[in-house]
Amino acid sequence: MTVLEARNLPRHVAIIMDGNGRWAELQGRPRTAGHRAGSDAVRRIVRLARRLGVEQLTLYAFSEQNWGRPQDEVEALMALLHEFLLSEREEILSNAIHLRAVGSVERLPQPVREVLEPLSQRSAPGARMVLSLALSYGGREEIAAAARTLARKVARGQLSPEDVTEELLAAHIPSVAYGEPDLIIRTGGEFRISNFLLWGSAYAELFFSPTLWPDFAAEDLFQAISAYQRRERRFGLVPSVASNGHGAHANGSSALVETQACPTSPSDS
Ligand code: FPP
Repeated sequence: MTVLEARNLPRHVAIIMDGNGRWAELQGRPRTAGHRAGSDAVRRIVRLARRLGVEQLTLYAFSEQNWGRPQDEVEALMALLHEFLLSEREEILSNAIHLRAVGSVERLPQPVREVLEPLSQRSAPGARMVLSLALSYGGREEIAAAARTLARKVARGQLSPEDVTEELLAAHIPSVAYGEPDLIIRTGGEFRISNFLLWGSAYAELFFSPTLWPDFAAEDLFQAISAYQRRERRFGLVPSVASNGHGAHANGSSALVETQACPTSPSDS
């Protein structure tokens, strides 16, 4: 069992959910079966993160580049997303989870947007956890879009080039709006960022798990958080200057989180 410190939980965890295809292949099943099992893993990990007191969870569910996959796989992923939004709607609302999407949402099929957009609005007030789904998302694409917006303002004379600071550019990057991730986990044994949260990952701690996403369980998340808790975050400073004010936060009064008391199945929650 992995033991976590309650005082030093990452506020914002982001996950590159990789390995659905290989999981299916290992079982001699179609890739879509891996995505369905991956969707079940999403349900488990959202529930667990909420119970742990993670303030933000950002999941890389579909990249801009994923549109280039075979049409039947894209359609299956969109159908799973639609099903997920419908089946989790009540739980999201009753557990004070604010669901939002980052990415080119306008590219998503109409039925998905018809569920996503109202749920995103309804779930916002009083949220205790923000669940961001990166959908039709690309890190380079959103930085380029932010640069275009600012360039238009400069061209119109509304802004001078000197006004284009790091802060102003960041303010135009949707995935940064709610804060940068403290911990980025990639599952499936690959060691890449794959165009995910390129701006926000500047000082994130990275954790690479060999576990294929459909098998990613509570213990895998605990291991990632435990590794995060053993890191020293310096943000380019020296230890005496870098305060622990970035990222870490207290969750409750106990010094340790009882990881065994964090069930993830629907019947336990
Ligand atoms: C990467 O695995 C995963 C994806 C491209 C899609 C992620 C989708 C889900 C987890 C399920 C649906 C999402 C929600 C929010 C309900 P891969 O297919 O590239 O795996 P591989 O590297 O083994 O081929």
